[in-house]
Order: sequence, then structure tokens, then C-alpha cells
Amino acid sequence: MLANTSQMLLRNISDLTGNILIVEPPADELARSLLPELPAPTKLSCYTSNAATAQSWQIPDITCYFSALPEFQQQFDTVVIYYPKSKEQLSLTLAAIAPALTDSSQIFLVGDNKGGIKSLSSHAEKLGLQAHKLDNAKHCLWYCLNGSLAALTKPRFSQQQFTINHTTLNVCSIAGVFNHGKLDTGTALLLNHLQHITKGSVLDFGCGSGVIGAFLKKNNSAINLYCSDVSALATEATKQTLQANNLQGTVITADGLPAKPACFDHIVSNPPFHTGIKTDYSISETFISQSKDRLNPGGSLTLVANTHLAYQTLLEQTFGKVTVLAKANGFVIYQTIKR
Ligand SMILES: C[S@@+](CC[C@H](N)C(=O)[O-])C[C@H]1O[C@@H](n2cnc3c(N)ncnc32)[C@H](O)[C@@H]1O
Repeated sequence: MLANTSQMLLRNISDLTGNILIVEPPADELARSLLPELPAPTKLSCYTSNAATAQSWQIPDITCYFSALPEFQQQFDTVVIYYPKSKEQLSLTLAAIAPALTDSSQIFLVGDNKGGIKSLSSHAEKLGLQAHKLDNAKHCLWYCLNGSLAALTKPRFSQQQFTINHTTLNVCSIAGVFNHGKLDTGTALLLNHLQHITKGSVLDFGCGSGVIGAFLKKNNSAINLYCSDVSALATEATKQTLQANNLQGTVITADGLPAKPACFDHIVSNPPFHTGIKTDYSISETFISQSKDRLNPGGSLTLVANTHLAYQTLLEQTFGKVTVLAKANGFVIYQTIKR
């Protein structure tokens, strides 16, 4: 399957020359479709912070940079950036790739019409850059970007302090991490309903900035904490959050439940229901159905979801009995116990 944005990139393949870098593409079939179409001696690299995308770019003859922030060992003639979720993230991405560009490098951007790319020109202007629209098809836009990136501020993680139920936490994050700089209303509600977790191995699945795991570990030093997320930006934020609160935990970047350890005593999550800009329940459905096998007998799964999401049925199908611990502000807290 190819995302519309990737189809747009292939439609404009003649713009790609020399040493090519593709930045933050979705986890689709682009790498396999693009590589055979490029004339020699073109070289192809990808930068991604997403474990699922990194997996789809594990192909001989392609260099895949998979990390929170990239450090390139080469310079690129052509860069294609998939338009990110926020303008702030775009500024950080441009600053991150700047050291790998030469004066003659060409920068292209591709994005879904519904994903914010329509405001690229005005945002580029604020950065002292010029964006020119080159193509419009498949509900997507294809732009080139001109100007110097040298003055852009180097990406850095920032720290905020939140007090939740008398627990004060320093939370680190960066644009691109879920709800950057804010505490999600659903997560705040979830943190009010975790008193049953006092010891054992605990997984914070889809940890984002690590606020749930840090909260649990700070209040229950006996727990053996694991935090996982598909995003390397999120897991780097979580590592920094744990460090900023002098807490210990194992942080894992993985698509879906991490392979190790085999089982947990408790799993806690504010699970994802978006992939890019689209609503996507499949990640949470897989997570819920696989959780049962990854819990020790008597272990619990506690999660928060928007009330409009039909997770109760799925939880009942998988676990049998489901308890609704709370409902407020459009969110519901579900708890199930593995029998
Ligand atoms: C709703 S956010 C919750 C973040 C954090 N726990 C909080 O409450 O602020 C969901 C998180 O799931 C992560 N995620 C999305 N797809 C995933 C996948 N396939 N495997 C693991 N984590 C995923 C996202 O990167 C995001 O950080």
C-alpha cells in the first residue's frame, strides 16, 4: 500500500536527483517502489523517528537513519520532507537536516491537503524561506522550498513541571511528541485511577513523554517500570523525563507491544487512535487483543479512551469482564483483570 503522499512523490520522481534523503515518510511501500525507479548513480537514504517506518526501509542499498534527532554522515542533493503534524515540528525538522545540505541542495515538501501543508507558504516566509507550489493531485500538494536554513534554531527537548494529585513531575518533550508541553485531559484522569498498581512489572504502552510511567514510579518505587513507544522522539523524551525526576525504568522503541519481557503484572495506556492525520483503531485493537497473552494471571490492563471509541466491546471480547472506573470530560477509564 502507498499513502497518497507517497504516490505524489512518485509522480514527481523526476525532481529527485543525486544523493536523496526522504524525511519522516509513513510506514508504507514507498522504499520498495521508489528504489527501482531511480536512475543510477542515485543514492537513497531515509530519516525516520518511527520504528514501523524504519522497519519498512530496511532494504539493501538504502541507508536508514532511525533516531530521535538525526546525525548524518553525508550531504544530500535532494531532500523530500513529509509535512509533519505541526509547524513547530517542521521548523525542528528543517534545522535538523540543515547540516546535511549544501548550497545547491533542493528541498521538496509533500503533504496531505488536510494535514496543514496549505499554510506552508506563510510559515516558510516567517522562517525567511520561500515555498513554491509545484503540483496538486491525489488530495496532496508538492512544494519546493528555497532559502538558507542556517539561521534555524537547533532542535532541543524542553521541560515542563506538572503537579498531578500532589505529585510534581518534570516532563521533557519536543514538538512531535504527543501533546508536547501539555498534560492530556484523558491522561490526567487515568492518573487518578492507578492506585491498584504498587509493585511488580508495569508497562506504560505508548508512553509519549513518559508522564504515566514517571508518575507511577515516583509514587511506587517498588515497581519495575517499562515504557514503550513507536516513536524514537517519544522514547528519548521519556528517558529524559525519568532522568529529570531521578527515576529508573527501561525505555523501549517498538511498534506495538515490546518483545521483552514476556509478561507484565500491569499494563497502563492512553493508547493511540491516530496514524498521521487519519483515525486508526487498528493499533489499539491489536494492542488490546495481544495484551491478554502478555499479562501474568491476576495482572491488570487499565486504559483511558475517548467515550466515542468502542473499546468496551473489544475489551469484553478479549478479557470477559470490564470495569468502568470513571467517566469524565469525554473520557472513560477501563480496567480489566486477566483471570
Ligand atoms: C495518546 S498518546 C499517549 C502518550 C502518553 N502516554 C500520554 O498519556 O501523554 C499515544 C502514544 O502511542 C504511540 N504509538 C502510536 N502508535 C504506536 C505503536 N504502533 N506502537 C507503540 N506506540 C504507538 C504514539 O507515538 C503516542 O506517543
